[in-house]
Amino acid sequence: SHPSYSCLSPSSLLVDIQGLQTQIEELSAFSDAPAPAVTRILYTHKDVLARRYIKQRMNEAGLSLREDAVGNIFGRWDGAEPDLPAVATGSHIDAIPYSGRYDGVVGVLGAIEAINVLKRSGFRPNRSLEIIMFTSEEPTRFGISCLGSRLLAGSQELAHALHEVVDEQNISFVEAARTAGYASQEDLSSVFLKKQNYFSFIELHIEQGPILEQEGIPIGVVTAIAAPASIQVEFEGNGGHAGAVLMSARNDAGLAAAELSLAVEKHVLDSGSIDTVGTVGVMNLHPGAINSIPSKAHIEIDARDIDEERRNVVVNKIYQSAVQIAEKRGVRLSKFKIVNQDPPALSSSMIIKTMEDAAKQLNFDSMRMISRAYHDSLFMARISPMGMIFIPCYRGYSHKPEEFASPENIAKGVKRGSGDFQTAFMA
Ligand code: GLV
Ligand code: MN
Ligand code: MN
Ligand code: MN
Repeated sequence: SHPSYSCLSPSSLLVDIQGLQTQIEELSAFSDAPAPAVTRILYTHKDVLARRYIKQRMNEAGLSLREDAVGNIFGRWDGAEPDLPAVATGSHIDAIPYSGRYDGVVGVLGAIEAINVLKRSGFRPNRSLEIIMFTSEEPTRFGISCLGSRLLAGSQELAHALHEVVDEQNISFVEAARTAGYASQEDLSSVFLKKQNYFSFIELHIEQGPILEQEGIPIGVVTAIAAPASIQVEFEGNGGHAGAVLMSARNDAGLAAAELSLAVEKHVLDSGSIDTVGTVGVMNLHPGAINSIPSKAHIEIDARDIDEERRNVVVNKIYQSAVQIAEKRGVRLSKFKIVNQDPPALSSSMIIKTMEDAAKQLNFDSMRMISRAYHDSLFMARISPMGMIFIPCYRGYSHKPEEFASPENIAKGVKRGSGDFQTAFMA
């Protein structure tokens, strides 16, 4: 009965599958790891080149471009009523070390193609449409996940913290941003968006899990995003010669880190829910020599759950273990920093419904699911009604080079996205 459906004609939505494939391939070449692996870290030379590539594609699509102080990139297609809050979509193109080609990328290049699809179909939007390429969804360089979207959503805490953080090479955030042409002004709160800035925000992303592929369903409609937390821990001991210092005389920082890592696994499993997960993905020992007892150990812990309370219980237990282990082993717990401890986010029921209706119109099966990975949508949900479209990926692989999504499934996601836009534009 909604009048907009008259123009949601599947046959008028033609996705350039080959062109999109070529772009995904071209973008993957901006990488600091050999193919098929992709490494693209915030504000590095490869990241700057990849950003340039995205801006060129946005330009070709006839979008007007804007970049903010941290390098979030906005491409806008003005609607017939440009004063109405825009419909926004987007994702990220940064890639963690030795990951794949599709995480984030599908939601950026796919969004540009969705606009091209709509333009080719002759559709003219009422509301404006904005594509956002978010800065640093991945926490690799400065330890801060969803840096761009967190800031867009108005995190004052982050605007301050960004003046203090440094990377492993001791390069400050502002210094790094300036090498990429950003952060010319000191006040990063210029990035904040107002709450009613967007009518809605949607993100297209590979599932990063195996469910859609197993079920043979091309479209996942995300109902909620799990609550992530990340923690940095450092232990310090006396170190010393690996041959000369007797076992009884040691306080080995590395062993404290190893013991805490096992404690993380135990606390996670003790939650009793399969939805609780915990990972120690970084463990650095100093001085890092085979014949020297580690005098310093640095580990980074990722803990998540769809239930925030339960996740917090795990975080507290990890802290207690860190204190106990330090005491027992006579090492110093020199750092226990909860970098972030974010709540989960719920998708908007209006958007869920719109997505399911659009899938039906296009004759695509869809199913509801939760996102165990986090996304910029987690933060966009703070300032806008939010929804996410998942598409299947091979065996659920992600954050590794074997990541793959088929051109056909990507095209379905893009088509589904353009269907959503049509509907939303009419609202
Ligand atoms: C995002 O990359 C995540 O770790 O969920
Ligand atoms: Mn990722
Ligand atoms: Mn991602
Ligand atoms: Mn992610």
